[in-house]
Amino acid sequence: MKRIGVLTSGGDAPGMNAAIRAVVRAGIYRGIEVYGIYHGYKGLITGNIKKLEVSDVGDIVQRGGTILYTARCEEFKTEEGRAIAIEQLKKFGIEGLVVIGGDGSFMGGVKLTQLGFPTIGIPGTIDNDIPETDFTLGFDTALNTIIDAIDKIRDTATSHERRFIIEVMGRGCGDLALWSGLADGAESILIPEKTEDIDQICDRLSRGLERGKRHNIIIVAEGVGSADEIAKKIKEKNNMDTRVTVLGHVQRGGSPSAFDRILGSRMGSKAVELLLAGEKGKMIAIQNNHIVAHDILDLLTKKHDFNESLFQLAKELSI
Ligand code: F6P
Repeated sequence: MKRIGVLTSGGDAPGMNAAIRAVVRAGIYRGIEVYGIYHGYKGLITGNIKKLEVSDVGDIVQRGGTILYTARCEEFKTEEGRAIAIEQLKKFGIEGLVVIGGDGSFMGGVKLTQLGFPTIGIPGTIDNDIPETDFTLGFDTALNTIIDAIDKIRDTATSHERRFIIEVMGRGCGDLALWSGLADGAESILIPEKTEDIDQICDRLSRGLERGKRHNIIIVAEGVGSADEIAKKIKEKNNMDTRVTVLGHVQRGGSPSAFDRILGSRMGSKAVELLLAGEKGKMIAIQNNHIVAHDILDLLTKKHDFNESLFQLAKELSI
């Protein structure tokens, strides 16, 4: 293999640039050329592809977002779209591809592999919703961004003796809510994996009030429902006023943490190593601090492991 490509797809995540840099430099270090594909699968179809040199990925390891841009591409989901993409890869002489993104992006990688084009995936999403990897790229940074925001909210919550409901990202996976809730001592954590009814939340608020607690933090993952709705229900049931903060896309931005920079670097280098070893259809993962690879097709049939013990611990500590 003499030439490979790299693209980012789906929602951006801090640490993607570190992974791009690693793919480019690990490739050049091993004597191959690396091409950047811009705007995800869309750029693969339109041929928005450019050779990347060592200096093109300088000064990016510390930057959030992705220098290759990202997009969600409907056309690539069609057979015609994928056929054009393969033609473009051939035209540029690219023989292997690294896809950095979430499970939707990996589906595209699997399709390319099935069409005979070797593809390796790197799990890049703040949601931490990919199976068989302890962490996805961007989760740690997003978690720290959330904690920083909650700490600030806590200052005003304490001063005004108010209850806050904070909505964080995570449609199908509550890891951002769970980990930030534990790290920040939230009274209630609402996640898609566990149904907790409004009565339980209200009871906890009342119990807290009885023992003199006059401010509360409730964290809700967006997949559970809107924070405004929960605020309305608490008002109806307990006649308690709350304030709502939806953190939104601020969670996706920012300079990656040291952990995400290192994870991106390790995963990017491993992806190149695998492609050069003739591997395909694999996703890089981190397990017990080892960088390993799993079959993507296998992964797509599994669900990310819910950390029950962490959930129980958060409950135990928020009595
Ligand atoms: O997949 C990452 C994610 O940040 C989700 O947590 C969130 O629901 C979604 O992306 C938002 O996507 P968009 O930026 O396209 O609205």
